[in-house]
Formats: sequence, structure tokens, C-alpha cells
Amino acid sequence: MEEIKITVTDREGVDHVIEAPTEMNFNVMEILRAAELPVEGTCGGMALCASCHCYILSDHNLPSPSDDEEDMLDQAFFVEKNSRLSCQLPIQKELHGLKIQLAPDAD
Ligand code: FES
Repeated sequence: MEEIKITVTDREGVDHVIEAPTEMNFNVMEILRAAELPVEGTCGGMALCASCHCYILSDHNLPSPSDDEEDMLDQAFFVEKNSRLSCQLPIQKELHGLKIQLAPDAD
């Protein structure tokens, strides 16, 4: 099975390198949760909660956000130009080497 590596900066500024299989239909939010990073994923990946909000630090060519993702980001806190909902990013080999940072906790 093919695996990619993603580097995640947590809210304390600590980097974590996570390996993720490309053939199991995971999204980035699920991989962050599996790695026990503090991402709630409250809506289960439906683009309805923004608890999986992250910033994209690398210049990967990512799929464009859907209308649902854009609507949710419009309502989220601490949104920047490089904000994405990690649940809307399927794990695929093009994401190898991706660098992201967890957005601040909105609570
Ligand atoms: S998990 Fe709810 S928007 Fe991503």
C-alpha cells in the first residue's frame, strides 16, 4: 500500500510527521484524528463545523474548495487566505509532502 507523508504543526508550534495510506479513502481530518492531534471533526467530515480548519503551508496544487467548504469558511474564525477544511482534502499521492498548520481553537 502506498503511503504519503504530511507534516502538521500543532497549536503549540510542534511539527508532527504523519504517514497516511492513499488507498483507503481517508481525508486529512481523519488522518489528523488518527494521529491523536487535537482536531474534533465534529460534523464527521460534512463541511458543517470548521473544527478541522487548517492552514496550508506548502504550495501543493489542491482541489478547489466546494461551495459548501467556502460557505463554512465564511463563518469560521481566524480564516486566512490559505485556510482549508481538512476534511475536504482526500488523501491522495499528490498530497505527499504537504505541510499544514492547525488553526487556533475557536472555543
Ligand atoms: S469535520 Fe466538520 S467541517 Fe471538517
